Amino acid sequence: MRFRNVLLVDDDSSMRHVLAVILTEGGYEVRAVSNGEEALAELEARDYDLVLSDVRMPKMDGITLLKEIRQRRPELTVVVMSAYGTHDSAIEAMKAGAYDYVNKPFKPDEVVLVLRKAEERERLKRENERLRSELSRDLTIKNLIGTSEQMQEVVRQVRKLAPVKSTALITGESGTGKELIARALHDLSPRASMPFVAVNCGALPEQLMESELFGHVKGAFTDAVRSKKGLFGEADGGTLLLDEVGELPAALQVKLLRVLQEEELRRVGDTRSERIDVRVVAATRRDLAQEVAEGRFREDLFYRLNVVNVRLPPLRERPSDIPNLAWHFVAKYNERLGRKPPISSISAAAMERLLAYSWPGNVRELENAIERAMVLSEGEVIMPEGLRQMSARPPLASGAADALVIGPEELSIKRATVIVEAELIRRALRKTGGNRTRAAELLELSQRALIYKIKDYGIDADKP
Ligand SMILES: Nc1ncnc2c1ncn2[C@@H]1O[C@H](COP(=O)(O)OP(=O)(O)OP(=O)(O)O)[C@@H](O)[C@H]1O
Ligand SMILES: [Mg+2]
Repeated sequence: MRFRNVLLVDDDSSMRHVLAVILTEGGYEVRAVSNGEEALAELEARDYDLVLSDVRMPKMDGITLLKEIRQRRPELTVVVMSAYGTHDSAIEAMKAGAYDYVNKPFKPDEVVLVLRKAEERERLKRENERLRSELSRDLTIKNLIGTSEQMQEVVRQVRKLAPVKSTALITGESGTGKELIARALHDLSPRASMPFVAVNCGALPEQLMESELFGHVKGAFTDAVRSKKGLFGEADGGTLLLDEVGELPAALQVKLLRVLQEEELRRVGDTRSERIDVRVVAATRRDLAQEVAEGRFREDLFYRLNVVNVRLPPLRERPSDIPNLAWHFVAKYNERLGRKPPISSISAAAMERLLAYSWPGNVRELENAIERAMVLSEGEVIMPEGLRQMSARPPLASGAADALVIGPEELSIKRATVIVEAELIRRALRKTGGNRTRAAELLELSQRALIYKIKDYGIDADKP
């Protein structure tokens, strides 16, 4: 850490001159003013790393100035100078928050030494802050629900990929959480405090797209009355999500490839390029390899984007996540809808329906279904009736309570297994009057596993 800009405050012009010479030789850029008022005005106008101020001055003295600075810029380092024999004012200055003091008269290197010490302290302070923020950086992904093995694998991948700058391609059907994962890649990265910018490549008209993405200079085209940064520029230092990247028109695919390869940006109408530092994350629900094979997406761009790939599994491949997701959305909409009374449970029959449905719209569809059910339900419990609109073709045969309810179209072993397990657990609980120890014996499960599954499948153990 080196300080550059020093503000010197002293009413004595020969002292200002001597100090300016000493500090300039020490490698600092110095501006000098003659009292506290001028100093405050100067601090408003420019950035300074350190203030070196005399104590006794007309208008505003050094101590008052120091107190003002503490109010306005508590981080700024202030060193005071006091005449020999005025020991009290030095102590007063230290109490008011000065970093150190120098007694006049001083030897030239004495002043520079104090400044070097202040720099070292500032360096340590920043180093400390950096370490602390790194330690406290939470590695859990906010708002991400997923205890299934498939989602745990995704979480592991995100943690591994977040710290690196490589371009990542996130694939998955609609509503599987691609945007959520893109944000997580940003939030868990060292770029977290920099901007996260998302653009939907399918939503912009082709003519506007280039200047939207890369910016333009004033006068680049008729409507360009002022220059514009562009989304890449806005994301500088941070992360840019190119959502629905498969929709990008061919001409822009070429331009994007160039920016990614050269890490340089040329705005529309500009003659120069600027270096940029952006992590690009692309998302698509299309099969991009297929798009490449059919000539709709550039192969070189595909490889450039697909340096690492995160594939989000459709919800039907991970039904064990459904209960937790349902609860997550119940909590979310209890709060958002301000629902009174809040929903406190999901009936077993309703949960079964959630588990058995194939969710073509994935997590987003589940979220919408829960929200709708919460609006439609009267009491505290989500009943299956609230979910009626959820499926045009309910895959459940509405059968006797004891029948195993696997729809006639069902082919997934995983999903069917969940339904069978849930039903057998309910049977065992009914038979034993809710006694979990005995139910576990009948099911030939450990009690731990039973309790886990009861929770996971959202079974009401008292009214199975
Ligand atoms: N694992 C999850 N845990 C919690 N919420 C999730 C999860 N996955 C998705 N969601 C929620 O589901 C909704 C849809 O997710 P998101 O917008 O990230 O999907 P997407 O894959 O980008 O969809 P599309 O392809 O339609 O753009 C969001 O409200 C998101 O917060
Ligand atoms: Mg999306």
